[in-house]
Amino acid sequence: MAKKDINWSELGFSYMATNSFVRAQFKDGAWQKPELLTDPMVTIHVAATALHYGQAAFEGLKVFTKKDGTTAAFRPEENARRLNDSAERLLMETIPEDLFMEALELLVTENLDFVPPYGTGASLYVRPLLIGSGARVGVQPADEYDFYMLGMPVGPYYKNGFNPIEGWIQTEYDRAAPQGLGSVKAGGNYAAGLMGDKEGKKKGYPISLYLDSAEHKYIDEFGTSNFIGITADKKYVTPNSKSVLPSITNKSLMTLAEDLGLTVERRQIAVEELANFVEVGSCGTAAVITPVASIVYGDKKFSFGDPKVAGATLSALYKELQGIQYGDIDDRHDWMVTLA
Ligand code: PLP
Ligand code: COI
Repeated sequence: MAKKDINWSELGFSYMATNSFVRAQFKDGAWQKPELLTDPMVTIHVAATALHYGQAAFEGLKVFTKKDGTTAAFRPEENARRLNDSAERLLMETIPEDLFMEALELLVTENLDFVPPYGTGASLYVRPLLIGSGARVGVQPADEYDFYMLGMPVGPYYKNGFNPIEGWIQTEYDRAAPQGLGSVKAGGNYAAGLMGDKEGKKKGYPISLYLDSAEHKYIDEFGTSNFIGITADKKYVTPNSKSVLPSITNKSLMTLAEDLGLTVERRQIAVEELANFVEVGSCGTAAVITPVASIVYGDKKFSFGDPKVAGATLSALYKELQGIQYGDIDDRHDWMVTLA
């Protein structure tokens, strides 16, 4: 398959139209067969619950061209499961895992020319989306749902790639309540973070860290990704909080950290503990691992190692994760699912 003429290595993280995307609809009590659409302008009922009451959740996963020339997705069944956790929390119709996988295969095989070639550092970002499409004016769940899956080639989410960025703690605006929607990937969580992130960006911080919204004492996560702290004695520390998204990247990195002989601690992290970390990272599908050089908290600034160069532990983890994703090293945990 001839690849598109795209400057793959220069890609950032933005929308790009591809050949087609997938839609499956839930109507009359059943999921219909997935179909390919080419026109990105879709029709939706003006009284759809997604538009009025935020019945909407999404996912993000990546598809890679591996060294051996095959095309494979990273742990897609984990995304299928998490989308269903989001669906259950928002009283939306869940999606059978085989429908999710059928949509993924269809999307990728129809858009293979948009899957970045091996060696470019880019990947196909896949965005599954589930929305309440049925009409309601009273506050109640829809009886019809649209499931979309679209994809686009992407490079790094933060423009420095695997180079440290500066962060801060947003304390004025909370993002997710302890028993609210933080543990699922509801679209509204990202609307809740827009204001806080905007303020951060205005001050020159591309990434904002949020504390627990009950007490503002403990680290929750970044607006886009989970938090990882590495201690001098090689502990991998990440928050155990009801209001953070259970990141598939973080879960994978915890496994890889143990493989590398680190001790993994998932626990509450008081904000003052930032002083104990020698490396800090943001992790997620889009962020991969983005090293964070420093975090400003009010009038304090916590710094983690060389501001220009990622630390040794996060570098080793990044190398392992990307090595598995691009097929440079053995997929010893069976994470990659070959699609083409
Ligand atoms: N936390 C938030 C708020 C996110 O948006 C994401 C991205 O999906 C993550 C964490 C990381 O999750 P994952 O590694 O499954 O992409
Ligand atoms: C992802 O990493 O998939 C996300 O959804 C994060 C978002 C900021 C793009």
